[in-house]
Amino acid sequence: MSQHDLFSQIDLAHRTDEQRIAQLRAELNAHNTAYYVNDAPSITDAEYDALFRELQALEQQHPKWITLDSPTQRVGGAPLPQFDKVRHAVPMLSLANAFSVGEVQAFDARVREGLGLVNPIEYAVEVKFDGLAINLRYEQGVLVQAATRGDGETGEDVTANVRTIRSIPLRLLGEQVPEVLEVRGEVLMKRADFEHLNQTQMEKGEKLFANPRNAAAGSLRQLDSRITALRQLSFFAYGVGEVSDSAQVFSQISFTRVVAQLRGYGFPVFTANPVVKGVDGLIEFYEQTGRARETLPFDIDGVVYKVNDTTQQEILGFVSRSPRWAIAHKFPAQEMSTTVLEIDVQVGRTGAVTPVARLAPVEVGGVVVTNATLHNADEVARKDVRIGDTVIVRRAGDVIPEVVMSIVEKRPLDARVFVMPNVCPECGSSIEREDGEAVSRCTGGMICPAQLKQSLMHFASRKAMNIDGLGDKLIEQMVDVGLIKTPDDLYRLSTAQLAGLERMAEKSAQNVYDAIQASKSTTLARLIYALGIRHVGEATAKTLAKTYGTLDAVMNANLDDLHTVDDVGPVVAHSIVTFWADARHQDVIKHLVELGVYWDDVAVAEKIATPFTDKTVVLTGTLPTLGREEAKALLEQAGAKVAGSVSKKTDYVIAGAEAGSKLEKAQQLGVAVIDEAQMLAMLNS
Ligand code: IVH
Repeated sequence: MSQHDLFSQIDLAHRTDEQRIAQLRAELNAHNTAYYVNDAPSITDAEYDALFRELQALEQQHPKWITLDSPTQRVGGAPLPQFDKVRHAVPMLSLANAFSVGEVQAFDARVREGLGLVNPIEYAVEVKFDGLAINLRYEQGVLVQAATRGDGETGEDVTANVRTIRSIPLRLLGEQVPEVLEVRGEVLMKRADFEHLNQTQMEKGEKLFANPRNAAAGSLRQLDSRITALRQLSFFAYGVGEVSDSAQVFSQISFTRVVAQLRGYGFPVFTANPVVKGVDGLIEFYEQTGRARETLPFDIDGVVYKVNDTTQQEILGFVSRSPRWAIAHKFPAQEMSTTVLEIDVQVGRTGAVTPVARLAPVEVGGVVVTNATLHNADEVARKDVRIGDTVIVRRAGDVIPEVVMSIVEKRPLDARVFVMPNVCPECGSSIEREDGEAVSRCTGGMICPAQLKQSLMHFASRKAMNIDGLGDKLIEQMVDVGLIKTPDDLYRLSTAQLAGLERMAEKSAQNVYDAIQASKSTTLARLIYALGIRHVGEATAKTLAKTYGTLDAVMNANLDDLHTVDDVGPVVAHSIVTFWADARHQDVIKHLVELGVYWDDVAVAEKIATPFTDKTVVLTGTLPTLGREEAKALLEQAGAKVAGSVSKKTDYVIAGAEAGSKLEKAQQLGVAVIDEAQMLAMLNS
């Protein structure tokens, strides 16, 4: 092979590598657009990764061919010492704001006056993204620079960071691209990405972001672009800056066509940018968008109206820093800052105790807010909200206002930390928080007025005292007018009192009265269930009734006793004991009885002493005739406690075939070992 041939072969190999690189880039960029811009993935993630790695490998072999528009350049690079300043070729202006229909009418009047037109104007309407404005500069179709708005004249060079935003094309799509094109739009973070980011931040013990806008700003203004690459930022285009003269596409047309052209270059644009006529069309769009606001995947803070005809735009021109041809019509703000005057707790109907921030009044989303929920003690700690702090309050849609975060920089020296009280402010009962639960609860049950209504509804329900016709509305009314303070008050009601309630005809008052009287005859299980002891459902109530036979016995059972009852674990036992420990609950029972509530005590299977009474027994190995469960049931009936492991406290080990370590242990400890036959004999003795 001649030297010449050799060179041309190497050259050929390189040429094919070069071609392959170009092909891979084009392919990857197209898949990227399909995925991030059009929301229509064209290949699987694995296939994308394979192409991506092939390109990375080729670029490693030929570093000189790495270009700015290569998809491999989206991963971020070494941290910058600071951002360079960028002077905008065309200033980035801002929009004037309108907050009322009147201001929109005035804007439209100015537009028509400026154009000397009386007929309705054609406006392009868009959402107002709540993010950060950015200018993207493309030369020969390649992204060469990205800059923040800054003061409108000069911004910061955030090119390395912007490259990591997948929905921004590194190279314009299509054949005909202007020599210079600056695209303007908004960088933002979708709400789901924001939640995810804050979750990760929390897990890492790092600072939380107040809202998607702050998160987007914080991520875009990262000196380390590798961090930006990890954050999910989105971009939407809504305009242009400098465009080279030769670019015919952008002259003498409409705004909607500019946007369509941007879409064609591979930029995400939002909505079909409808065009409307006159003020009526604008207001209709405003209202429609306001209703759809919560359903969008990102935050918006209003809508933007732009005169659609670009020639008309030129005629109208600018006044100071804003175009005369556009205006932002803002929604009422969803977030405002204010100060925390106090943190109180509120007791909900299920006893949940919620910390609530009392705020210096502030208007949020058109409503004056003075209280905001802090959810639970963990949330207060996580958000580190203190009394005296300046906080951000958010009110979205119909949800209750919440404290988003505190602004630590503004914390006064005398700010106080919130401590969850240990007694209920409504009724004085203890407040408890179970292990693993975020919520603290008032243990007052029906004594607590906050819980009374709920308790009464439960008390009267079908499976409890079964008071027919005593519905939720009626109960609420009775509590609200002060007729009822504890469940026993139900049995003190007269027909006259009932008839005095709203929407109560004499006939229905009599019916309710009769139902209350009829409920006096009940069962022990129903009564226990009706009391609404936490964790004591219908089944547990029945078991307790069956086990103890009388209410006195249930009330006197201590933790150890309760533990031996089927299905009663430590949590339930604790809850039962705490309930009776409250003298007010005992009073309720006393009054119920005095007022004529009665039930038959349950016949408790008389305890006949057997050789197994109160003995601890362990079963091991395979018994010749009895199954494990059968043997267990027989032993329990005979008063034994069947345990799972052998200890010094074991009285008998009942061993069958292939008994293993338990038998050995019993022998070691000198525990009596018997077989099935012996066991049956003892049972029958
Ligand atoms: S057009 C001449 N359209 O609002 C100004 N701006 O106050 C052209 N913004 O800095 C801006 N959504 O950050 C335009 N659909 C939209 C917008 C929008 C959000 C922001 C942008 C700008 C600010 C103007």
